[in-house]
Amino acid sequence: YRHPSVSANLKRLSDSGVHIVPAETGELASGLSGEGRMAEPENILKFIKDYILDKAPLKGKKALVNAGPTYEPIDQVRFIGNRSSGKMGVAIAEAFAQQGAEVTLVLGPSHLKVKHRLIQVIPVETAQEMHTEMLHRYAQADIVVCSAAVADYAPEKAEKGKIKKGNPELNLKLLKTKDILQELGQKKQSQFLVGFALETDNLLKNAREKLERKNCDLIVANETNAENQAFHAENNQVIFVLPNNNTIDLGFKSKTEIAEELVQLIIQKRTQKK
Ligand code: CTP
Repeated sequence: YRHPSVSANLKRLSDSGVHIVPAETGELASGLSGEGRMAEPENILKFIKDYILDKAPLKGKKALVNAGPTYEPIDQVRFIGNRSSGKMGVAIAEAFAQQGAEVTLVLGPSHLKVKHRLIQVIPVETAQEMHTEMLHRYAQADIVVCSAAVADYAPEKAEKGKIKKGNPELNLKLLKTKDILQELGQKKQSQFLVGFALETDNLLKNAREKLERKNCDLIVANETNAENQAFHAENNQVIFVLPNNNTIDLGFKSKTEIAEELVQLIIQKRTQKK
């Protein structure tokens, strides 16, 4: 490996723009030990990934995403939750990571496994915990996507232990939770802020109203009804709603495709903003 002809050939290759995965040191085919061993396949893969990520459009940018449902405790064993699976938000976190962003995913209770070295998962349970984690990280973020199905109401207090069924009636007092997206909209500086709108009626009208009220740069509008259950499905039908009455209808696509198109649109809009 140190022979002058090998060095000269390596130099000629790198001078002409070829990227060289460095050889490793260890036992060689000849039985000797030293420099010149083929790099381990996982190291070759890491080299290629690092090379691609180094050129990625969101390299060095911070994306903050929330996803999944929230669970609001009634007592020690029961909670109020919703049917969100978190799939859409996880796909968005992965699409950001593929474009080189450092991603923080604040994830409500979910069975999904997220494994990417650029994604840090912060598990939370309640709307209040999700609020704390999102607000805490907001100032450092460049792009923020709120895809979580945050509970709008939570029990005033969780009973200690398990509520026994002694009484014929049980009344729960629910209080409104904080609207995380709205608060982020009020505190917005240079962040690109994306919200979701899940509607059963008047999809575009309500989504436009949410875009304004929550001071977002983009709303992913999602209609749900009896035939089209958005929550656990692999596919979804969404419309991107932008300022000045602009809309992009994506039609029916997989959540992965929607996430990739969303991230591409964000990259494009952020470049235009500069
Ligand atoms: N959202 C939030 N905090 C809440 C409720 C909602 O951050 N407490 C965010 C969601 O993550 C989503 C957006 O607000 O990005 C819209 O959520 P949606 O459920 O469609 O609407 P709501 O604002 O809750 O209003 P409504 O239920 O009246 O349609």
